[in-house]
This record gives sequence, C-alpha cells and structure tokens, in this order.
Amino acid sequence: MEPVQIADGIYDVGVQDWNISDFHGYSTPFGTSYNAFLVVDEKIALIDTVKAEFTDQLLANVARIVDPKKIELVISNHTEMDHSGGLPKAVHRIGEKTPVICSKMGEKNLARHFPGRLNLTPVASGQEISLGKNTVTFLETRMLHWPDSMFSYLKEKRILFSSDAFGQHYAGFERYDDVIGDAIMPHAKKYFANILLPYAPLVLKLVDKVTEMGLEIDMICPDHGILWRRDPKKIIDAYVKWSRQDPAAKAVVVYDTMWHSTEKMAAAIAAGLSDGGLAVRPMSLRKWHRSDVMTEVLDAAAVVVGSPTLNNGLFPTVADLLTYMKGLKPQNKIGAAFGSYGWSGESVAQITDTLESIGWSIPEKGPKIQYVPEEEALASCFAFGRRIAELAGKDR
Ligand code: FEO
Repeated sequence: MEPVQIADGIYDVGVQDWNISDFHGYSTPFGTSYNAFLVVDEKIALIDTVKAEFTDQLLANVARIVDPKKIELVISNHTEMDHSGGLPKAVHRIGEKTPVICSKMGEKNLARHFPGRLNLTPVASGQEISLGKNTVTFLETRMLHWPDSMFSYLKEKRILFSSDAFGQHYAGFERYDDVIGDAIMPHAKKYFANILLPYAPLVLKLVDKVTEMGLEIDMICPDHGILWRRDPKKIIDAYVKWSRQDPAAKAVVVYDTMWHSTEKMAAAIAAGLSDGGLAVRPMSLRKWHRSDVMTEVLDAAAVVVGSPTLNNGLFPTVADLLTYMKGLKPQNKIGAAFGSYGWSGESVAQITDTLESIGWSIPEKGPKIQYVPEEEALASCFAFGRRIAELAGKDR
C-alpha cells in the first residue's frame, strides 16, 4: 500500500499483511498491518519498522518520500519482531551508525535480538528530542506489551505513536477511525482481550499518568490497524472500560464434545443461564478459536467450561483454551465446569482447579454425567445454569 500523509510532514509508511491468519496463537482472519511512521523535519525520523519479510516494502514506501539515507534517527518503540524484525536491514540501508532510539529495556532487548548490529541510544521516560519544528517526547509503557515498550509523542502535532496499545489486527485500505467507523471496535476489543488483558491494571495507571501529564492528543497512531483521528478519546475510554473488567449481564458457555453428551449439557446450561436473565454465548471449540472465546470472556459475568473426560483428562481443545485463558488472567468472573464421562470422570475437577487458579469464584460443584444425559439430567443442567445466572446477577 502507498504511504499516506497523516499530518503535515508525517507519513504512515507501514505495510499491510493481508494473509496472516495466526498471530502467535491469535486468529487474524482480517490480517494485520505493521505501521511505521516517517517524520520529515530538519532531522528525519523513522518511527518503528516492520516484520522482517516486509522490510523492502517499508523502504520502498520511505523512498517515495525521501531517500532513506537522509533518515537521521530511528525510533524503536517496541522490540517484538513484528516491529523490529526489519531494523537491521533498514539500518543497513539508512546508515549503519544511525542512532536507534529506544527505552532502557529496549536497549537490553534489542541487543539480545540483534547483537552488535544496531547503534542503540536509550532514552529515559520524559526525555525529549527536537527534530526541528517537531519535538518527540518519550514515555515508558512497561509491559504494554513488553518490558521495553514506550510511546513517542509528537508535541507540536499532538500525535501519540502508541506502539501496540490501541491497535487492532486489521488490514485494510481504510486508514482512519472516521473512514471505517464503529466496525473497527470488535477488532480493537479482540486485540485488547488477547494482547493487553493481563496488563489491565497497568493500562489504568497509564491513562491516569497521561491525564496527569496533560498530554493533549489529536491523533493516536498504533503500530497495528487503523489510526484514531476523529475521536481518539473513544479508544482510550474503551481501554479504561475493558481494563476495569466490570462484568456485563452475560455468560459464555464454552465446550467441546466427543459423542454430543457434553454438547447436550452445554445447551441445557445455556438455556438455564438465559432463563436466569443473562445474554448467553454458547461457543463450541470446534467452531470458535480460542482468541474469539477470549473476546467474549472479557466482559462476561459467568464463564462455564465443559469437557468430556478423555484418557483421564481434558479434551485437548479445552486444555488448550484453559492454558491460554489462564495466561490472560481475566478477572471478576464466576466460573463453573461441567462434562460427561465414561468411567473415570476427571474433567470437571480439572477445569474447576484451573478456573480457581485464575482467581475466579466457583460457587458450585459442576455437573458430571455418565455417558448420555437423559431428560432428568438435562433438567438438572438447566437448573444449574439458572442458579449460576442468579449468582452472577448478585455478584454484579
Ligand atoms: Fe505488535 Fe508486541 O508486538
């Protein structure tokens, strides 16, 4: 895609990755973009690079605006390879001694990724660099998404280059929020739920800090997806809401099944949850990717997980989801387990242990049904769903 001028002398020179469908375990059916930005001033700065295999496209985009050799400094807001993979090749083209500005942790992490290949120049949080008419202020944002992450703020233009924060895995010709409209919000929510959720308390602290610093923001430019120019506050407010993890009147029933028994139980429990007043998302793991499940879990009051027992353990897709969900640490949930079994029936206890280890409240021992649930067993599943809905209502 051609470079886009996003403000006077500022260009988006990033690339679209239309075909990526899995981003380290997160399904990306809409692809993603690796955004990078060129600031043309008395000193020319490149903010971030791209995944290694797209470096030629990045450099071609830059060359449409200026000779890459005129770039005097490269800013690396984040070390993860989707933004730094192209650094060595880009710096080779720009000039081997070009300073690569990064946080103190960025200095350590970039050195471990590309030993001896970059002229690393660490900056402190709050430090400024003048490019001429524009001043860049750096703000450390540890763990959003890695220990090295930082924001770069272009003071005179009121543009925040926010690295991973406020991004979305979305490739498209629409470059701005006002072009795509609210259709981008589910992508932003999925991104938050799967990338930033474990660091939700840090997001809240960061928003407080940005408010305290009085940073005025006209545009937010993340490193993935569209840029927020019509209403940057909208995505900031959404981050505050998602970070608080206030539960909605909603339940997720996520499960897998071998011979449809656990599936029948899931349907009965979902009906009970709905009868109890919750909006319910039944999600079979044969249909839904773990990352889509997490998007729904983000604001659910109750999460009910079902698995048959297979070889004294969990069905593999359920084990996969639990491992992924435990790492993302969603909070403020009521958890529950259920499952069918043949002769040993360990799955319900194993699910319960994991949900407890995330810190969720588990108000009831979940139903276990041998072989095939009959009418009476399904009625008890319905009643179980009803009780969970009532408890979730009391908890909210
Ligand atoms: Fe887009 Fe944490 O990298």
